[in-house]
Amino acid sequence: MDLHVISIFPGMFSAITEHGVIGRAMQQNVLQLTLHNPRDYADDKHSKVDGRPFGGGPGMLMLPEPMTKVINAARSQAKTGAKVVYLSPQGKRFDHAAAKSFAKQESLILLAGRYEGIDERVLEHHVDEEWSIGDYVLSGGELPAMVMIDAIARLLPDSLGNSESAEQDSFVDGILDCPHYARPEEYDGQSVPDVLLSGDHQAIAKWREQQALGRTWERRPELLEKIELTDQQQSLLDDYLKDRNLDVSDLNDS
Ligand SMILES: C[S@@+](CC[C@H](N)C(=O)[O-])C[C@H]1O[C@@H](n2cnc3c(N)ncnc32)[C@H](O)[C@@H]1O
Repeated sequence: MDLHVISIFPGMFSAITEHGVIGRAMQQNVLQLTLHNPRDYADDKHSKVDGRPFGGGPGMLMLPEPMTKVINAARSQAKTGAKVVYLSPQGKRFDHAAAKSFAKQESLILLAGRYEGIDERVLEHHVDEEWSIGDYVLSGGELPAMVMIDAIARLLPDSLGNSESAEQDSFVDGILDCPHYARPEEYDGQSVPDVLLSGDHQAIAKWREQQALGRTWERRPELLEKIELTDQQQSLLDDYLKDRNLDVSDLNDS
């Protein structure tokens, strides 16, 4: 995947390019990341990219001219048809489905704002989509861009090593992941569930699916409304709730 990021703080991206899954995906050429700094497209000698907003008020805005130029430069280097995505608290909420759909694109340009944001005319004419990582305001689009890149990179074919997999992760099948345990078998007076030590792969898979369904019911019940459970899944969930004396009224109370 050919990724381009527009940011006045390109150095921040070393947090993801030099470590972990993304660092490895870049080394293996599964992902290429090109950084573009709007300051390189500013006309004045101080490389100024911000200015006061018309109408007054606090804060500064990213100016239209350097932003348009840097977007055009990124478009000319990206593969044809690359979307320009502005990270914005006013955008659509980013989630697993969005990450999956972005992971299918060949090329993508992420635009990180700073200050009070970017002159609206740039957004209207040069931005294809706006995406938010949640209902709170950060001081820049760099962290949201990195969040999106990480979530997308995990879903690229060949980006995760053999020992890792995104298939069992939360949200992939519309439900949360099951609990996991590693050595030792006894820790702090608590033991690993017997079934995980049984060597019975079918029983383990069934237990994991039941746990995943059960904790989704307990923690994020609205997710279950969006998927259709098979008869087997419904009976696993019913047994989970029966074992814990839980029913729908417990859900309504919480
Ligand atoms: C201080 S914010 C500007 C907020 C803007 N004045 C507003 O209230 O909508 C500066 C930049 O941070 C980024 N940003 C802040 N919160 C974000 C969020 N929840 N999701 C995505 N990007 C965000 C955007 O790129 C934005 O241009």
